[in-house]
Amino acid sequence: MSTANSVAGHYGSAGIAERVLAAWRAANGPDARPTPDSLAQFDHFHGRGVLATQELAAQLALRPGERVLDIGSGIGGPARWFAAKFAVPVTGVDLTPEFCAAAEALSAATGLADRVSIIHGSALALPVPDGAFDAAYSQNVIMNIADKRLFYREAFRALRPGGRLVLSNLCAGPMGEPYFPVPWATTRDTSFLATPQEMRADLLAAGFAIADFRDITDATREAQRRTRERIDKGEVPRIAVDIIMGERAREMQWNSIRSIEEGRGTAIEALVRKPG
Ligand SMILES: C[S@@+](CC[C@H](N)C(=O)[O-])C[C@H]1O[C@@H](n2cnc3c(N)ncnc32)[C@H](O)[C@@H]1O
Repeated sequence: MSTANSVAGHYGSAGIAERVLAAWRAANGPDARPTPDSLAQFDHFHGRGVLATQELAAQLALRPGERVLDIGSGIGGPARWFAAKFAVPVTGVDLTPEFCAAAEALSAATGLADRVSIIHGSALALPVPDGAFDAAYSQNVIMNIADKRLFYREAFRALRPGGRLVLSNLCAGPMGEPYFPVPWATTRDTSFLATPQEMRADLLAAGFAIADFRDITDATREAQRRTRERIDKGEVPRIAVDIIMGERAREMQWNSIRSIEEGRGTAIEALVRKPG
């Protein structure tokens, strides 16, 4: 099986939008209308949830009307959040067909279908014209990408000169590979963690100028510690990973927590620019 099929097979399942909306209604009542903010707990599928998205937004400093690309848009939580907060059109590209369908259904449920477009496709052959975007972001996707230079070259191609890209990503840690399964991969066959040094080199090789590159592992570890305390007390918050990954989520979260605690992953946020 190709890596793309294995990655999509890891993430995809039927009825994701229905499960997200059911969890949202259980928390908010049957009659209210979901908003990107009230859905955020359930549809931002990455470590630290909407807090991490807010950090990327601060780095991107979007202006109204700028065209934004979300590479590996998942079920569309960050795309809807950006579109609503900054009045920008967002195009999301994702490999997992069930995620694209869920993203479209949730955008319709939040009344954002006219501002968020989702395209089923690969980050390694972005189905978008050259220079079509002012800004782009990608959250917790590059861990699934073996050919990282191609990923960065495609992002570079999609941006206009002067366009910026903000990334959050788990890189390799000094203490060896993570424990599997983790939320992004069932086995090591679809997990590709570069070192932070390799990430920098790959970004530069694609032509980007690096404006900011920071290790946020401590903040990630602290957020995970709080999650672990809540799990220990039996207060398991329903978050995107539970709803999307179902019964496998608990083991994946534990492995992710343990891996970060033991130095088996380094969380990186980076802001880069296409010169021009
Ligand atoms: C952990 S999820 C993050 C989703 C989303 N960025 C978020 O933060 O909510 C990783 C996503 O990357 C997507 N993905 C992995 N490899 C991809 C590729 N080659 N092209 C496009 N999407 C990819 C998966 O389908 C999945 O939606």
